[in-house]
Amino acid sequence: MKVLVINGPNLSRLDIRDSSIYGDLSYPALVEFVTQAATDLGFEADVRQSDQESEIIGWLHQAADSKTPVIINPAAFTHYSYAIRDAAELVKAPLIEVHLSNPLAREEFRHTSVISGIATGTIGGFGPDSYALALKALATLLKK
Ligand code: DQA
Repeated sequence: MKVLVINGPNLSRLDIRDSSIYGDLSYPALVEFVTQAATDLGFEADVRQSDQESEIIGWLHQAADSKTPVIINPAAFTHYSYAIRDAAELVKAPLIEVHLSNPLAREEFRHTSVISGIATGTIGGFGPDSYALALKALATLLKK
């Protein structure tokens, strides 16, 4: 089973982001971690990153058309992109929102997620394990 893992803006630069918030893994190391966690659960992960709203929307359209489950870290788009929310809503397979940090424990502007309302569920605050937990939740969901 394929799973599309979408990462939003600035996640490709984890190497220079605040490691006290985002941890020590570089983006390539995060991709490796997620790919391995997916393989361990029998998934084939297609892990992508974009800084562009329109590219992410195109990927969500593809997932909607191919009925592919999605794990998405929309990064800053989480807090204001109604366009990504509307595209994510088209995905009828499970769609899980993940965050490395816990946005609810951070600045007030991060307390709003315009994605959570259409997501199957949201996992945040566990670093890279947020993705592994999302994959586990997905595996359980798809067995039902
Ligand atoms: C993030 C949290 C967002 O608020 C932030 O804009 C990000 C990363 C996270 O994974 O913790 O870029 O989505």
